[in-house]
Amino acid sequence: MKTITFMSFKGGAGKTTSLYLLVAALHERGKRIAVINADHNDVLHQWREYGLALNTWDDEHVKLWKILDDEEMAEAAEEAEEFGADYMLIDTAGGGSDLNDAILYNSDMVIIPSDLGRQELDQTIETMQYVQDYLKDQNASHVLSGFLLNRVPLDNKQFSADESEGWEIMETLPIFDTRIPDNKRIKGQKSKGLMDLYRNDLDSDKSSRFRAPHYTRLLKIGHQLADEIDAALSSSEEARDAV
Ligand SMILES: Nc1ncnc2c1ncn2[C@@H]1O[C@H](COP(=O)(O)OP(=O)(O)O)[C@@H](O)[C@H]1O
Ligand SMILES: [Mg+2]
Repeated sequence: MKTITFMSFKGGAGKTTSLYLLVAALHERGKRIAVINADHNDVLHQWREYGLALNTWDDEHVKLWKILDDEEMAEAAEEAEEFGADYMLIDTAGGGSDLNDAILYNSDMVIIPSDLGRQELDQTIETMQYVQDYLKDQNASHVLSGFLLNRVPLDNKQFSADESEGWEIMETLPIFDTRIPDNKRIKGQKSKGLMDLYRNDLDSDKSSRFRAPHYTRLLKIGHQLADEIDAALSSSEEARDAV
């Protein structure tokens, strides 16, 4: 089971959004996914309720846990193994905490979403610094971490001065090639997921068919992220095997 954690000190950075995209892609690949909500909200459970109401949720492949402390986290991780999860994705609360430290220590990869705005960027770099220092302190340097750029303007739109400056800093740090565009389909989806588990519905329902191409495009981004994660994790495994 690969454990992937979404973390950022700042709220609204895109943790849940990038988790949705990754679940969408992994689900399409037939993977079993344990989703851990370590944030103080119920968005992920509302997502399941929404899917259940549409009769599109897939309990066989996707299972949710809500946890409040490291004891509950340990139990959930055990149950996720029993569930046969290929991936455990953890959505965390903003800020540092004992729980977040325990989660970091037990992750294979930490994803830190951020947009390129100047204010957000400082906090993102702070998050990355914290994550890397903590892992170094704990001798857990095998845990990979990287920035995931979110709300990236479309190709034909120029970066603002702030964004360009941010980009120069980001480029010097570990960063995913995958980027999440600023997209109005994402904006309205807070507790609805990203159409991952109900694509069949999109194809069969006439009015939904018009929306389908947009979600297909988003799903492709999820697949790109999944590919990058798999590649990074397997090359780090190989490097460890070689030692
Ligand atoms: N790329 C994007 N394009 C448009 N809206 C986005 C994008 N990423 C996030 N949002 C919106 O911004 C809000 C915060 O994103 P979210 O993923 O919930 O952040 P976090 O989980 O880090 O708090 C949500 O309403 C979400 O739909
Ligand atoms: Mg969130």
